[in-house]
Amino acid sequence: MENRTPDMNLFIKHNLPDGRFRSVLCKVSILGIDRAEDLCRLHSEVGIGVSQDIFLVSPDEEVLRFLGSEGFTVGVSFKDRLICARTIRTGKEWIKEYLAESGTTPELYGNPAITGFCVVDKEFRGNEIQFLTQYYAENLLVGSFDSILTTVSPNNVFSLQNLLVCGYNIIDIKDNRNSHKRYLLKKNLMENRLASMPGNIQISLRHLDSQLRAIRKGYVGYKLIKRPHGMDLLFSKLSQDQE
Ligand SMILES: CC(C)(COP(=O)(O)OP(=O)(O)OC[C@H]1O[C@@H](n2cnc3c(N)ncnc32)[C@H](O)[C@@H]1OP(=O)(O)O)[C@@H](O)C(=O)NCCC(=O)NCCS
Repeated sequence: MENRTPDMNLFIKHNLPDGRFRSVLCKVSILGIDRAEDLCRLHSEVGIGVSQDIFLVSPDEEVLRFLGSEGFTVGVSFKDRLICARTIRTGKEWIKEYLAESGTTPELYGNPAITGFCVVDKEFRGNEIQFLTQYYAENLLVGSFDSILTTVSPNNVFSLQNLLVCGYNIIDIKDNRNSHKRYLLKKNLMENRLASMPGNIQISLRHLDSQLRAIRKGYVGYKLIKRPHGMDLLFSKLSQDQE
């Protein structure tokens, strides 16, 4: 996809393995094919020791599609070291192919773009760069797509929290190609009519069946809250209001 976004400089915290930390200058940019090796390295390194249920490591051929014309990759680099990558699918055929894996079609969601993976180098976690790169990517999608879809494991609390705060709503629960449960989340990229949430229901993060029943009744999940012994999701029905 054509790069219409300028690079962005920012200082973030680098946590060294020996417990010390420092502030370093990093650059956010859209990665070109010259960063293929870096992208494949970071993607596979982050996957080491992480359960497949949380993060599924893709083959390099698939990772590299995010550097071609079918999508794009927002990268954050510290000097030459790639420390974060957030990938997005924009190619119509790829989006169709991806949604077909879970038995759905793009038309069901309007005209959506779809996220790929987001990975952050362990030494740079805690800077909310998943969140930042999500917004940075949106800047490239506005005007070309009506919405963006993403999936996340119910066990990946760090990622789920970031997505809900970024304005995504949980609209379904599906099995991925490896039969792992995934929330399907959607964020509108168009201005909506005024809406309100006339009340909510609170369901434990562990109770997927109850969550799915709420979704089938028209509720969407919109917020993760901490309880003394676990976490709950808040679900609400959006009601369209008069202007
Ligand atoms: C999910 C992920 C991208 C979030 O990274 P991030 O943007 O740095 O996360 P945040 O800044 O929101 O982190 C918030 C807090 O959670 C901690 N944290 C984040 N991810 C963590 C992880 N996987 N394990 C332990 N702690 C983690 C951070 O250190 C931070 O703690 P602090 O507030 O005490 O500093 C990163 O954890 C990651 O790369 N995970 C593996 C791949 C993955 O699951 N990707 C998402 C699905 S594709």
